[in-house]
Amino acid sequence: MRLLSRKATCNTHGQDSSYFLGWQEYEKNPYDEIKNPTGIIQMGLAENQLSFDLLESWLANNQDAAGFKQAGQSIFRELALFQDYHGLPAFKKALVEFMSEIRGNKVTFDQNKIVLTAGATSANETLMFCLAEPGEAFLLPTPYYPGFDRDLKWRTGVEIVPIHCTSSNGFQITAPALEQAYLEAQRRNLRVKGVLVTNPSNPLGTTMTRNELNLLVDFITEKSIHLISDEIYSGTVFNSPSFVSIMEILKDRKCENTEVWNRVHIVYSLSKDLGLPGFRVGAIYSNDDMVVSAATKMSSFGLVSSQTQYLLSALLSDKKFTKNYISENQKRLKQRQRSLVKGLEKAGISCLKSNAGLFCWVNMKHLLSSNTFEAEMELWKKIVYDVKLNISPGSSCHCTEPGWFRVCFANMSQETLELAMQRLKSFVDSMANQSTHQMMKNSRKKSLTKWVLRLSFHDREPEER
Ligand SMILES: Cc1ncc(COP(=O)(O)O)c(C=O)c1O
Repeated sequence: MRLLSRKATCNTHGQDSSYFLGWQEYEKNPYDEIKNPTGIIQMGLAENQLSFDLLESWLANNQDAAGFKQAGQSIFRELALFQDYHGLPAFKKALVEFMSEIRGNKVTFDQNKIVLTAGATSANETLMFCLAEPGEAFLLPTPYYPGFDRDLKWRTGVEIVPIHCTSSNGFQITAPALEQAYLEAQRRNLRVKGVLVTNPSNPLGTTMTRNELNLLVDFITEKSIHLISDEIYSGTVFNSPSFVSIMEILKDRKCENTEVWNRVHIVYSLSKDLGLPGFRVGAIYSNDDMVVSAATKMSSFGLVSSQTQYLLSALLSDKKFTKNYISENQKRLKQRQRSLVKGLEKAGISCLKSNAGLFCWVNMKHLLSSNTFEAEMELWKKIVYDVKLNISPGSSCHCTEPGWFRVCFANMSQETLELAMQRLKSFVDSMANQSTHQMMKNSRKKSLTKWVLRLSFHDREPEER
């Protein structure tokens, strides 16, 4: 008799994906400048550690908030008691204002339409529970964030059908690709309930164009389905073109209070833009009251603790701080991304032109022994075990073309990034030397064969020739 549930024993969580395996390898042998200088450098984790000092200095200057005091008086007891799952109004207000600020105040958000969740992970799963039945499908453009297999499918039983995007147009979404994914779902007898996109994209590090966003709105209008826009990196855009939220498109198209308006939902989190994944602060924003109400009830499974809400409502309400943080953080990200791109260029490696995110989408096709995913895994293993860099292979992001890798740049010091680039360059150089050596060996073998052939030709009796 089965003692554990199917959910507990099935492997749809995706733990065995190379994305998570790389993390495990890193954990076994983590790089440390002093204690383990030959260890693995973690470049598979989309964390932002570049602006901690700004947060720390705010904490030092705001002892009341950090010490759970209000006007000098402790509010510890208030925070320690059981909170209602609607969340602190002051925090929801500060969060929606921060979301508007990130979008250049081109759109505003209503605090009554936001649901707090324990990170974007919980927000995405909760939306799946609200919008789809087990066995129904969401369409996702590839390549996509590997965690989605766990977040969207595992516990909900929802299926993901890929919208195949390719390097030929910089992995942009096209109308035929959307249509093809829809047909594929129908072929598999899956009812399509919506499309989920990440804008800016993880793993591409690019923002969606207005054209793509308009295509999506047309598509969900025509098919009468939902659209989830995961905008977790909306404040992590450091180059032009600037970020355009799906809300801005709906506003421009005068969709307010239409059916489509109610079918578009935004996911947000402070894990990336504020670099606080450990605080577990996420949100669902929806114009559909039923979704807000159901998601609020479900949020009791993944609330944000009251002391976190208290601390962050003070931090996000400090407009001088948020303004400076957003611009300084973007400046640092821009420098860091440029540094990675330059390091890669020195090793003869290019990447997709990006303007956002905490990673680059790197093209290493020329280093593959063949144009296959087996060769991609072979290269990935060499990079993890020999070069000692944990990067994420494109196959873990469901990319359809072998040879792409996601490389993160903001979860380490500049010195560590430079060391990583030195290691990569030495590896590429040694591969080039090996292949030159092999070519020379082959050509020597060829000329030797020719010489032997010629000799044997001369050795033969004239009549044998
Ligand atoms: C696109 C995307 N969505 C969701 C998440 C999960 O974020 P959180 O830490 O807020 O749960 C991530 C994390 O990397 C992500 O990249």
